[in-house]
Amino acid sequence: MSKSITFQVQPGGKLQGEARVPGDKSMSHRSIMLGSLAEGVTHVKGFLEAEDALATLQAFRDMGVEIEGPVNGELTIHGVGKHGLKAPKNDLYLGNSGTSMRLLSGLLAGQAFNSVLTGDKSLSGRPMKRVTEPLATMGADIKTTERGTAPLHITGRAGQLTGIDYAMPIASAQVKSCLLLAGMYAQGVTCVTEPAPTRDHTERMLAGFNYPVKQEGNKVSITAEGSLTAADIDVPSDISSAAFFLVGASIAPGSDLLLKHVGINPTRTGIIDILRLMGANIEVLNERTVGGEPVADLHVVYSPLKGIDIPEHLVPLAIDEFPVLFVAAACAEGQTRLTGAEELRVKESDRIQVMADGLQILGVDAQPTEDGMIIQSGPIGGGEVISHGDHRIAMSFSIAGLRADAPITIRDCENVNTSFPEFRDLATRLGLNLVCREEA
Ligand code: S3P
Repeated sequence: MSKSITFQVQPGGKLQGEARVPGDKSMSHRSIMLGSLAEGVTHVKGFLEAEDALATLQAFRDMGVEIEGPVNGELTIHGVGKHGLKAPKNDLYLGNSGTSMRLLSGLLAGQAFNSVLTGDKSLSGRPMKRVTEPLATMGADIKTTERGTAPLHITGRAGQLTGIDYAMPIASAQVKSCLLLAGMYAQGVTCVTEPAPTRDHTERMLAGFNYPVKQEGNKVSITAEGSLTAADIDVPSDISSAAFFLVGASIAPGSDLLLKHVGINPTRTGIIDILRLMGANIEVLNERTVGGEPVADLHVVYSPLKGIDIPEHLVPLAIDEFPVLFVAAACAEGQTRLTGAEELRVKESDRIQVMADGLQILGVDAQPTEDGMIIQSGPIGGGEVISHGDHRIAMSFSIAGLRADAPITIRDCENVNTSFPEFRDLATRLGLNLVCREEA
């Protein structure tokens, strides 16, 4: 039996000081994937040493790539070139990581070997047809369960994929990236059009490895003509991890926090825009570019928030931040309304239902809708909530403790390790009164 972890947060407190949160998860995955396919040796700094990114790392080791580290976020990847991966001896187990599974399905569709991708209970319930269907039109052979879920049985179709022109029905960086990786092995041009901008780390990193990618408005295209040249990668802090503290400092009177070296790629900064619309006091300082990605220090000081209707165009730009934004909404005067965010129902958990259930237990008026939530401000009480194994739910309810009037117990917090193993230590250092209990 694996251990179960419970967080217990004492009410009140404020966040103060300076911190550098761990490396960006999306970029960490991609650094392993592209570094492995490159010719030459890639050095990575700032790599996220958490379960999701480590699952990707293990998958590439299982396909014959020599990777040294991680030691203090540093890795050395001995790239095998675009055609150098080897057949894994066993199924590739990707844990909780949707990014690993969806991106790998595209990459492995065009290899000269077969593979099987598996994951934990949550990942095995998540929709995979969004990648396997367009891949099938490219000529890929991937079998899912009848429900369209993992395990994915991939028959490598080296030399037999053809490019497609695909208009994505949903705004998904994972689907876009999956098809671009497949396109690196397909005849002709693979072109993906997105209905709204999504994170573009794959495109930026491919360019950093000297692989040609063409971006025209909302269309990105790629061909098999090209190879990757090893490059050094400096992964900035993950704005999705910084988000917990941006909200925490915004809702807890007396807070004053500096978050250093945070990635502020414009496809990821919806959290800053939404919090500012709510009245948050966030300064973006010392903007610079590190390895093709914009980076800054974020200074956040407590400020009373007000409820808003969240503009729908910001939804994909803050897609992972809604659990903690719902906590901000509970502390914001008046009503906050989120629409156009049905994707939240198919994340690591159904984030609309799970957050609404938890907020209601804490006495907050939170009404789930099909594609979002309506939240009225009001006092946050204490109680026991369940994170349903979703890392971001666990951390969001921890942050709610800053404004609660009684202790909050959060069950099922093991998966905080998938993205932010240092959360408890860092949050405690900054002023959150959080203890962690392990049970066999
Ligand atoms: C990710 C894309 C997003 C995001 C996920 C990471 C990525 O998923 O929610 O945490 O690294 O490409 P979708 O593409 O499903 O929106």
